[in-house]
Amino acid sequence: MLLLDGKKLADELKAEIKTEVDAITQTGKRAPHLAAILVGNDGGSLTYVGHKVKACEQVGFKSTLLHFDDTVTEEFLLSEVKKLNEDAGVDGFIVQLPLPKHINADKIIMTIDPLKDVDGFHPVNVGKVALGMSAYISATPLGITKILERYNIATEGKHCVVIGRSNIVGRPMSILMSGQSKTGNATVTVCHSKTKNLKEITLQADIIIAALGKPEFLTGDMVKEGAVIIDVGTTRVADATAKNGWRLKGDAKYDEVSKKCSAITPVPGGVGPMTVVSLLLNTLKAAKNEVL
Ligand code: GUN
Repeated sequence: MLLLDGKKLADELKAEIKTEVDAITQTGKRAPHLAAILVGNDGGSLTYVGHKVKACEQVGFKSTLLHFDDTVTEEFLLSEVKKLNEDAGVDGFIVQLPLPKHINADKIIMTIDPLKDVDGFHPVNVGKVALGMSAYISATPLGITKILERYNIATEGKHCVVIGRSNIVGRPMSILMSGQSKTGNATVTVCHSKTKNLKEITLQADIIIAALGKPEFLTGDMVKEGAVIIDVGTTRVADATAKNGWRLKGDAKYDEVSKKCSAITPVPGGVGPMTVVSLLLNTLKAAKNEVL
C-alpha cells in the first residue's frame, strides 16, 4: 500500500516555489503578495488562515491578514474586497469561508476580481476551469491533481467516484477528473446525500475521492481491492487523549480502508498540506500574470 504523503510533497513544492521567488526578487521585483480576509473567530478558520500565513513566510511571499470582528457589515466587507481589487501591491487574495450568516458569501465572492481570485471561487474561474481554459483552479482540487500527478496515479479510463458535490471540492474535482488532461480522462460518477445504493457504486471505483465531511464514512466493505483513495475529510472529533481535546478525522475509516486500497492519503498529512501549497501556486501564478 502506497501512502500518498501530502506533507512531504507540499514541502517539495514549497522548496520549488521558494527558488522561483528568490529568482523574482533577485531581479529587483517585489515578492508575491497574498492577502487574506478573515471574519470572526471560528476555530477551524483561524487554524487554516494561520497555516496559509505561515506557508507564505516559508516561501518568501509577503502576506497580509485582515481580521475583522464577526459584527462587520456586508457593505464594509464589500468595500474591503474592492480595496484589495485595486491595490497593485497585492497579487491575489482570499476571503476565508464560512462567513457569518448576515453576510451574503456569494455576493462577496462575485465582487472579487477574477484575476486576483487565487481561491478560484469566482464563477468566472469556475466556468473557465469547466471549459478547460487558463484559470485559477481552487486549492483543494488543485492539490489533489498534484498528488495524482507526482505519484503517477493513472486516471485515464479509470472509474472515479467522487462522494460530495460541494462548490469547493466535489463539483470542481468531478469536472477535473473527466477533463482532457494528464490527471483527467477518467469516467466520473458523482455521488451525494441523495444517491441510492452508494456502496454498489463505490465498489466499482478505481479511484474514490471522499469529500462529504462525515468522519469515517467510507468503510472497508465499500472499497474494491486495489482502489486509490483520496480522503478530503478534516473533521474535528472530540478526543480526551489528544492535546487540544480533539483529533482530525478523515472521511475514510483508515484502518479498514488502508488494508484494501493500493494507495491512500492520510488525515492529517494528505490533502490538507497540499491545499495550502496550491494556494501558494495560484498566488505565484497571479504574481507572474499567468492567468488571462
Ligand atoms: N473554507 C474551507 N476551505 C476553504 C478554502 O479553501 N478557502 C477559503 N477561502 N475558505 C475555505
